[in-house]
Amino acid sequence: MAETSRVATLTLDGKTYELPVMSPSVGPDVLDIRKLYAQADVFTFDPGFTSTAACESAITYIDGDKGELLYRGYPIEQLAEKSHYLEVCYLLLNGELPNAKQMEDFEFRITRHTMLHEQIHNFFRGFRRDSHPMATMVGVVGAMSAFYHDSLDINDPWQREVASMRLIAKLPTIAAMAYKYSIGQPFVYPRNDLDYASNFLHMCFSVPAEPYHVEPALAKAMDRIFTLHADHEQNASTSTVRLAGSSGANPFACIAAGIACLWGPAHGGANQACLEMLREIGTVDRIPEFIARAKDKNDPFKLMGFGHRVYKNFDPRAKVMKESADEVLELLGVHNNPLLQVAKELEKIALHDEYFIAKKLYPNVDFYSGIILEAMGFPTAMFTPIFALSRTVGWISQWKEMIGDPQGKIGRPRQLYTGPVARDYVEVADR
Ligand code: CMC
Repeated sequence: MAETSRVATLTLDGKTYELPVMSPSVGPDVLDIRKLYAQADVFTFDPGFTSTAACESAITYIDGDKGELLYRGYPIEQLAEKSHYLEVCYLLLNGELPNAKQMEDFEFRITRHTMLHEQIHNFFRGFRRDSHPMATMVGVVGAMSAFYHDSLDINDPWQREVASMRLIAKLPTIAAMAYKYSIGQPFVYPRNDLDYASNFLHMCFSVPAEPYHVEPALAKAMDRIFTLHADHEQNASTSTVRLAGSSGANPFACIAAGIACLWGPAHGGANQACLEMLREIGTVDRIPEFIARAKDKNDPFKLMGFGHRVYKNFDPRAKVMKESADEVLELLGVHNNPLLQVAKELEKIALHDEYFIAKKLYPNVDFYSGIILEAMGFPTAMFTPIFALSRTVGWISQWKEMIGDPQGKIGRPRQLYTGPVARDYVEVADR
């Protein structure tokens, strides 16, 4: 529990109220307003949660000014370079890095949970072939609660554990199946001899008709993409998972809610939207036109892949992702790709433009991830599903933390009501 270090005072209508100040291990202090309504009969107003800590958490820390992202205290740059996704999953879920035996056990358990209940294949076949894979994922992940009845009891720690393993293990299988279904190819079963990232590439790109070799450098890049997306503090989809979970909903339903929230273009859907924007721009000479649109207050257009609610200096994930993009493009021999040229030029222009500098708008993780995924052969519609499968461990870790929090309460925001005051019903003949 965070310490209460001192008190702030609020004076309202001549009365003074004391607000305890809570100190985190790092980051800004937090005013505890939990008793404010009971004592002063006022609410606080913060749509978009720009100044509100919605929970206490010990998982991920972001310093937006420094461009710092820590998972359980470890800098993302170090994890991206030295660790790997399943180790990061263990870290996020358990709080500490695993020893060799713990890692081996965890990897074994995850690997043995990658297959889906065979009946789910039929469930997939109910979707139109041209469904967006995110639409399919929301449905299938939500439907997992209809298939895995033995891991729905949120009050049983063992069931919570099994549900967590299932979600982390099966999300790549579901994402790959959504892709295969959309292109009319047969589903590919997971392979237990492959690591997590290689297995995902195998399920996406292999076909029964011929052998498929997973290029280790691409698997490494894939693994790094998973790692960079694994958790991100109380973002919109994570908060959605927490809010859904606060009512006691089962974990599969909560993660389906998180996937639905992630889909939006201001959040995880930005990677797809960014690549579509690069395509729309098409050639370098059209960039000024789009920069002008992004600055125009009357035009809703935004430069996708730019800006972040928390990062106001740089997005540390974007830095690592950019290096990864260079490596992957080099490996695949992609040099003269017109999209890449537009992306590089756009990045250069935006980073030197007064508007973007003044508003502290920098390329975010989604700007570069799409470029790598496109080069690897993924269609744009798969970008957000890949984000979703990577973020599942973050959602689950936050959900487990919430369930275990003795201060836990159902999430129930209040409002600043501006509608009509009480009035009498008017019969239709009198209206
Ligand atoms: N292009 C042009 N102008 C922008 C952009 C952009 N991408 N982002 C913000 N602005 C402007 C915005 O119009 C506003 O201007 P003003 O102060 O004159 O009204 C100012 O910058 C502040 O922006 P905001 O919308 O109040 O900032 P926010 O914290 O509410 O939104 C954001 C953050 C990420 C939703 C937003 O920057 C955005 O929509 N970016 C494009 C979508 C995107 O790349 N999203 C991925 C985020 S990273 C991955 C993830 O976490 O999911």
